[in-house]
Amino acid sequence: MSASGFHGWPTKMPVGRIAYVNGRYLPLARAGVHIEDRALQFADGIYEVVGVIGGLILDEEHHLDRLVRSVGEIGMAMPMERAPLKLVIREMARRNRVVDGLIYMQVTRGAYRRDHAVPKDGARPTLIMTARPMSRLTLEARREQGVAVVTRPDQRWARCDIKSTALLPNILAKTEARDAGAFEAWLIDRDGFITEGSSTSAWIVDRDGNIVTRDLSNAILPGVTRREILDAAAEAQIAVVERKFTPAEALAAREAFMTAATLGATAIVSIDGQRIGDGKPGPVARRLQELYARRAEKLARAG
Ligand code: PDD
Repeated sequence: MSASGFHGWPTKMPVGRIAYVNGRYLPLARAGVHIEDRALQFADGIYEVVGVIGGLILDEEHHLDRLVRSVGEIGMAMPMERAPLKLVIREMARRNRVVDGLIYMQVTRGAYRRDHAVPKDGARPTLIMTARPMSRLTLEARREQGVAVVTRPDQRWARCDIKSTALLPNILAKTEARDAGAFEAWLIDRDGFITEGSSTSAWIVDRDGNIVTRDLSNAILPGVTRREILDAAAEAQIAVVERKFTPAEALAAREAFMTAATLGATAIVSIDGQRIGDGKPGPVARRLQELYARRAEKLARAG
């Protein structure tokens, strides 16, 4: 390995460090997970960090309790029993010669073909662990001197306008939808308005016949298909209102539909088990899909 490491990573990795991946201890530069691991695709994983001081693992039971709880809360399986996990933690400290430092561990749902809903078939979680020494003197000096903080808005996670891979809430909602026999979950904000689907933009045709989709803000992803359908509608002189709408309005709507790169405009025939309109795909969704498809094809051909 000359210019780059096993995974194409720079070779300037910390030398001598050992990682743990699913039962194997490997040099850090050669350790990796599958690129379709759900942690990478969806942040579908949980983690713990445990301190090590003077060779002792600090607060270990509480960290492991929280790990088990986090795993359970997102319906994942533990990758191994507690006793062998504790052995791996110790082995990692030993192999990395960590006397003062930290152990990082992450449990992911594992690698599957990308699909938001949690795979039904299985429990093959990935367990990865790294260990890193820290200078006790630095820690003590910092405690001695104290540190500064600044304040910032708590935006965890209020930036749905960023197409981030931090999709854990989305995949949990999609899984609940699937388990309820539905295709998608529409998400409701704190003020009781629908934002969007777990992986789609949300639209209705309200009682008065207005085509409505939520206005852009940090509450929704600016869907490319949404944008294109707005443009296609404008070209055809069809008005669309960009505003918030409630689940009650959606239930009373003439039509509802969703858009995404993988779906075009797809009609919604029921919400929470209640029929929308006459329970069949409506004319507006169909018309917008036609306009969109024609426009998208023309743009794609034009390059
Ligand atoms: N999802 N909202 C969310 C949260 C999405 O993840 C997506 C797309 C959309 C629609 O955006 P666009 O029209 O640009 O595809 C809205 C993709 C399809 C996915 O994650 O598979």
